[in-house]
Amino acid sequence: MERRSVLTLGAAGAAALVAGGAGLLASPAWADSPKAAEAARKTGADSLRGYGARINLPIGSALTPQDIEQWAEISGGQFSVVTGANAMKWQTVEPTTQGVYDWTDADQLVAFAHANHQLVRGHTLLWHNQLPNWLTAGVAAGTISKTQLWSLLEKHIFTELGRYKGKIWQWDVANEFFTDSNPSGINPNDWWVVNAGEDIIAQAFKWAHEADPHALLFYNDYNVTGEDGTNAKHDAVFAWVQQQRDAGVPIHGVGTQAHLDTQYGFDPQRFQTDLEHYASIGLKIAVTEADVRTFVSDATTQTPTDSLSQFAQPFEYSAMMQAAIAVPEVISFTVWGWTDADSWVPGTFKGEGYACIYDVNQQPKQAYYSLLQDLKIAAEGAPRRAPLPRA
Ligand code: G3I
Repeated sequence: MERRSVLTLGAAGAAALVAGGAGLLASPAWADSPKAAEAARKTGADSLRGYGARINLPIGSALTPQDIEQWAEISGGQFSVVTGANAMKWQTVEPTTQGVYDWTDADQLVAFAHANHQLVRGHTLLWHNQLPNWLTAGVAAGTISKTQLWSLLEKHIFTELGRYKGKIWQWDVANEFFTDSNPSGINPNDWWVVNAGEDIIAQAFKWAHEADPHALLFYNDYNVTGEDGTNAKHDAVFAWVQQQRDAGVPIHGVGTQAHLDTQYGFDPQRFQTDLEHYASIGLKIAVTEADVRTFVSDATTQTPTDSLSQFAQPFEYSAMMQAAIAVPEVISFTVWGWTDADSWVPGTFKGEGYACIYDVNQQPKQAYYSLLQDLKIAAEGAPRRAPLPRA
């Protein structure tokens, strides 16, 4: 596998690549403009996005409205690609009544990205979670038939992709359809599979491609780069994506969420091998939701209870980044929120937290410096030792 080419550019030239892909990949016009160079210069080359630009790897974060309103300097300054943590989900954009839309959060995200010369990852169109209540209740009551459900999804996809046509670089079209069992496969109990049938997944990609032909379309899931220990989920997702592409379904890439937990250990070699495996059939790969959680004292301070986790947490972030750097088909590396202050982890995993690269007070942690160092070494080479004195 060819290693990611390391470009040796001056700051301005390097900054011009901040959009990622250097014009090779579909990207909104604003991100290719000279203003992108200006934005990166203003931010300083000494940032995640600045070093990422120099090796053509956009660095991203999921953002909440709070990240945009309260902490714009870091949200805009460190990242060159952003994802709405919830802003573009169906429950958010068509919340209470069928046909009545609320684009507040999605518009805010896209405007923020535009202002900061950032790319946007759209997330997500087809997922069993965060669906509007009117939809799930209608299906449960039998007032929405299977045929109507297909039509409603078609309308949802064309409406949302139409609104942001040309402004979204990558879309997570389908999310989390595979089981965690060994062997893994498409979950027969998934809400969409039960109510619409498995074929809805391929159809969603076809509609999305029709609605915005320049957007890169991803299948996104967790534990798909060996994190399950057996590689069963990777094998199942790989086989399914390959089969769909062979059948002409427009799937351009796989998103590996990469939600790690220090208690389970992590195999960096397996992670990289799996990235290379996806790449071997022409897929692009995005690390879409990276974070590394551990056990903490409480949800407020999120102080790790085991001092070893303070080594494991940045190590695992760094290992993922090094693999991403080594595999050129990885086109973006996104963390799922940058501050522990609004991480999803404490609310979901009792007793765990400390998952992000900045702490609860928006101070950078060792994980931030590890990622920065990995990117800096990739961009500039390892620091050289001073010559030895003559013996
Ligand atoms: O908006 C309501 C608010 O009105 C209410 O007062 C509050 C009370 O709890 O809840 C708010 O909704 C919350 C929503 O986030 C917006 O903040 C939900 O309870 C909460 O469950 C929801 O969590 C989101 C989660 O997806 C849902 O599964 C997280 O923020 C979001 O980061 C997370 O993201 C997912 C990815 O989309 C897919 N992969 C896994 C990842 C982590 O779960």
